[in-house]
Amino acid sequence: MLYAQTMAMGIIAVHGGLDTSREKQYMEILQEAALQGHELLSKNRIQALEAVLRVLEESSKFNCGYGSVLNFDGVVEMDAAIIDGVSNRFAAVAAIQDVEHPISVARALLEKTSNVILAGAGAVKFARKQGFPTANCVSKEQREAWRQARESLARGEKPAQNLYTGLAYYADTVGCVVWDGEGLAAASSTGGYSLKTPGRVGDTPSLGGGIFASKTCAVVCTGIGETFIETLTAKYVDEVIAGGSEPQQAVKSALKRLHKLKKAEGGILAVNARGMVGAAFNAGRFPVVVVADGKLLDHYQPVNLTQELSVH
Ligand code: GLY
Repeated sequence: MLYAQTMAMGIIAVHGGLDTSREKQYMEILQEAALQGHELLSKNRIQALEAVLRVLEESSKFNCGYGSVLNFDGVVEMDAAIIDGVSNRFAAVAAIQDVEHPISVARALLEKTSNVILAGAGAVKFARKQGFPTANCVSKEQREAWRQARESLARGEKPAQNLYTGLAYYADTVGCVVWDGEGLAAASSTGGYSLKTPGRVGDTPSLGGGIFASKTCAVVCTGIGETFIETLTAKYVDEVIAGGSEPQQAVKSALKRLHKLKKAEGGILAVNARGMVGAAFNAGRFPVVVVADGKLLDHYQPVNLTQELSVH
């Protein structure tokens, strides 16, 4: 899909995570997030990304910020990252607790320090120093789902909940890529996956694994983070686009490679420096919203490779 003729106001593409519902209420929040980001895109692409992700972190429907999945010990530990393809600056927080907006902490790290990743207690300490107050990220639904899952495990049964959401309904890691007519940037935020090992860090803050941006493209991934880290999938997308492929071809090729190397499922979203968007997935759902030149593209559909690349 080419928007280069109407590039003046740029592109924002947002995904709501692997397996996330495409029901109206989810799509409306994604649309609201994308439109809010677009308002800021001509001013500051990093601020635009932050605005998009803050909307999603505030909603309990997505696996990020408030409403994130709980780890094995019943604690929310979140990862968030932001990268500017123009300055090559990257910053991320990993396994951070008790902050409402991990993406804002990552942005503060990007803009106010020369550090690249802060994790755990150090990330929380930095957040407090920057004025981010203590916030509860555990929703009642997630607490209850975690209790049920632990009970199932204690009985020797597999928990019935969705791995990404911890719940019977679906929602997962969120990500956003932008092109403002001059440069590319990307951001992601996540609670990881349900019942993960405490301290575990996924692909969201893994540069080249689950996120990347350069002068060529911006890309974000969703799925089981370990598979993206070990295959450097986001960097692979960048290389394929640098080699002359369009984003749609590149994300399909990356997903096929991920499947071949890891038998994994995933969702990948990318935009290039001509404003072309590519999105593909091989799981239940992968809701994507695109705003081009200030207009919401109705019914944007990522390519569904589920039949071709089934992992079950
Ligand atoms: N993609 C989210 C995670 O594995 O942490």
